[in-house]
Amino acid sequence: MGLHSFREYDREILEEGLGADVNVVIAIDGPAGSGKGTLARQLAKRFGYTYLDTGALYRAVALALLEANGSVKNERDLEVALNTIKKNLTPELLKSNLLRTEDVSQMASKVAAEPFVRKALFDIQRDFAANPPNGAAGAVLDGRDIGSVVYPHADIKIFVTASPEVRAERRYKELQLTGTSVDYDVVLAEIVERDERDKNREASPMVVAEDAFVLDTSSLDAPEAFSHAMDIIRAQFIDATDEK
Ligand code: DC
Repeated sequence: MGLHSFREYDREILEEGLGADVNVVIAIDGPAGSGKGTLARQLAKRFGYTYLDTGALYRAVALALLEANGSVKNERDLEVALNTIKKNLTPELLKSNLLRTEDVSQMASKVAAEPFVRKALFDIQRDFAANPPNGAAGAVLDGRDIGSVVYPHADIKIFVTASPEVRAERRYKELQLTGTSVDYDVVLAEIVERDERDKNREASPMVVAEDAFVLDTSSLDAPEAFSHAMDIIRAQFIDATDEK
């Protein structure tokens, strides 16, 4: 089967499973370094859907707060930061390297624990999922709580995970490639610290949605993870179609 017809075949599986005219939403959740971003982008490309990195929204709020010397404990400062990003939200900002520093990562995890911020960002995420930009037939969102809270009606939910050591190793290599000198143990400690905060916060903590498929990428590279995800999607839709 050629690549083109294979793509068409994938699209048909989704459309048969869901009804051709519905907007398809794929939720990819999981912790930092699990490979969820790479997987979500690849799935969006395969199906021709639009992709939203929801972590980047929290990162953008964190950056705006840091730049304004604001405090995460001050609702007024958070409101200013939220207004700043609502005005300046562009696909370029969401991809910017400015969002990828360790300071922003740690602050993002703190702002993400604030219900006030989460609520404001829910609307942006739900609107994106329900009305994907550029008339796309579906959306892929990655985050921590897409399948559990933001979009519980998502058509496909995959929770991507990997051991903290493997995730730290990936992050460590990424940082080395950008010429940042870091200690592996520090990277691991930061990953563990952020996981704890993301899992234990009161406002929509990171949990595996009941109907999510868990994909452990500890011993998988990106193409293997993609291929497993495609198996999950095919199995779900072939089963759904057979049951009709
Ligand atoms: O995926 P990431 O590392 O870029 O996410 C940045 C922070 O935002 C992280 O601490 C978890 C939080 N986050 C969240 O609480 N809910 C989401 N849907 C996405 C990210």
